Amino acid sequence: MKTYTNVKDLGSITEALKEAFEIKKNRFAHKYLGENKTLLMVFFNSSLRTRLSTQKAGMNLGMNTMVLDIQSGAWKLETERGVVMDGDKPEHILEAIPVMASYCDIIGVRAFAGLVDKAFDYQETIINQFIAYSGKPVFSMEAATGHPLQAFADLITIEEYKKTARPKVVLTWAPHPKALPQAVPNSFADFMNEADVEFVITHPEGYELAPQFVRNAGVEYDQIKAFEGADFIYAKNWSAYQDPHYGTILSTDRSWTVSDRQMAVTHEAHFMHCLPVRRNMIVSDSVIENAQSLVIQQAANREISAQVVIKRLLENTL
Ligand code: CP
Repeated sequence: MKTYTNVKDLGSITEALKEAFEIKKNRFAHKYLGENKTLLMVFFNSSLRTRLSTQKAGMNLGMNTMVLDIQSGAWKLETERGVVMDGDKPEHILEAIPVMASYCDIIGVRAFAGLVDKAFDYQETIINQFIAYSGKPVFSMEAATGHPLQAFADLITIEEYKKTARPKVVLTWAPHPKALPQAVPNSFADFMNEADVEFVITHPEGYELAPQFVRNAGVEYDQIKAFEGADFIYAKNWSAYQDPHYGTILSTDRSWTVSDRQMAVTHEAHFMHCLPVRRNMIVSDSVIENAQSLVIQQAANREISAQVVIKRLLENTL
């Protein structure tokens, strides 16, 4: 593996899951792989889980790890070519990337969608610049259109907790006070479309995701109908993808907040969310605190998904 930005980079997900469960049994089996190798994690946005789990995964593999928070302590970076740099950004990303790359062996990048310029976001301009100009293996720690480390951890969690061979998995939109990117639902859809599950997406009209991520998933605008018989409910807010409303909030309808009312029609479904989550906007206290909630297990599996990915990138540097 040379880069990790989407499910296709994993190859067979059956093999990837097998590797994940082997690593989970013995996290330190491949410590020799990272000896004298350095992992650089570059954050353009805040993080709790990604930062800690990815650093832990690198350490499990014997790597030295470095973290750069672009928003605090680094020069503000210009990301577009052709700009006259007379504003508040003293360094261009096209110099910064090769400089950062000269200090490390593998680079993880977190760079959210700006939600202003759809083309800039959906061309994955920032992470693709790291891939093009670093000369090093690069992996996504959530980019503009995808969060594949999260979705891989979610797949591992579903595999661990499923009670039927082909569970029904429902991705539901839920309200949020701020406009959020589509990265998490995009990647979750990407992975579920590859997995052996019945996959349904439910959201209010206007919140349709990009067709390349929805693919063959069922789309149901009636949330209760979508929840009927579900084994897993994955809640997430996202802003509008479709023009002319890209990046905006179309609804704050609290009837979409996942509560006992909707969970009652499921097949005693597990509740999932990538965290951080706004309680009583996305999900009620009672649902997230229920024994069927898997939010902590998902977060714990972030260490495992990151370790599979970094291990494969390291193997490619040998
Ligand atoms: N789920 C997730 O990526 O969490 P952080 O934003 O805290 O890293």
